[in-house]
Amino acid sequence: MVFQPGERLHLGAEAEVWSGLWMGRKAVRKIRRKRGWRHANLEKRLGFRRLLSEARLLIRARRVGLEVPAIWDVDLDGGTLVMEMLPGKPLIEVLRDENITLEQITSCLYNSGALVRRLHRLAITHGDLSTNNILVDEDFNAYLVDFGLASIDYEIERFGIDLHVIDEILGASHPSIEGAIDIFLKGYLDEESKLGPAKDQSGGVVPTAASVMKRLEQVRSRVRYHG
Ligand SMILES: Nc1ncnc2c1ncn2[C@@H]1O[C@H](COP(=O)(O)OP(=O)(O)OP(=O)(O)O)[C@@H](O)[C@H]1O
Ligand SMILES: [Mg+2]
Repeated sequence: MVFQPGERLHLGAEAEVWSGLWMGRKAVRKIRRKRGWRHANLEKRLGFRRLLSEARLLIRARRVGLEVPAIWDVDLDGGTLVMEMLPGKPLIEVLRDENITLEQITSCLYNSGALVRRLHRLAITHGDLSTNNILVDEDFNAYLVDFGLASIDYEIERFGIDLHVIDEILGASHPSIEGAIDIFLKGYLDEESKLGPAKDQSGGVVPTAASVMKRLEQVRSRVRYHG
């Protein structure tokens, strides 16, 4: 299907992201960049696998109504995904906006935490939970993108790591927002109280929000201890 490119939104080490139109709808195309230094064949297989896994997990999350982009086209050979363009901008930019109020900061962090819990309840860990990969719209609703490192998990460790990654990033890049992580974690915990215990998934039992929080504490003290 034809994607009509608009402008380049992002040029990273792994991917290039363009805005544009697909079937008349606002879309983005993510192209996995080829990296010369890897063996061409291996590169192809790894690229295939990651792209396929990204598409699969986004579809899985979207199917049950999570705020992630709908996937509209996958081209494994070309290494591209075409997906719905989400509204809003990255959380990192929202938090750096000088005109944002404390109340608005609170709602976007809280909503982000709640959304991450809903993702975890599907046994999906994100794998790269940075403030670049959370988008926030005008009403401070949160959306998740970039599932290239996401996976299906039942072991608690990767759930804890997800929270630890966002914890470190909020502490390092937004130190002026005091207690940012606590607002995020309140959203994470409250979501579980609202929704009740998570349903068992096909592969097993998802760790509870409370147990993931406990794991976060362990990861934190491990990091403190080992430096
Ligand atoms: N569906 C979407 N709607 C709106 N913006 C998007 C969408 N997907 C990605 N973006 C924007 O493009 C940026 C980069 O996309 P993404 O995070 O998927 O690439 P990446 O894997 O991080 O690339 P790299 O690792 O090379 O930096 C995001 O941070 C976001 O700002
Ligand atoms: Mg990203």
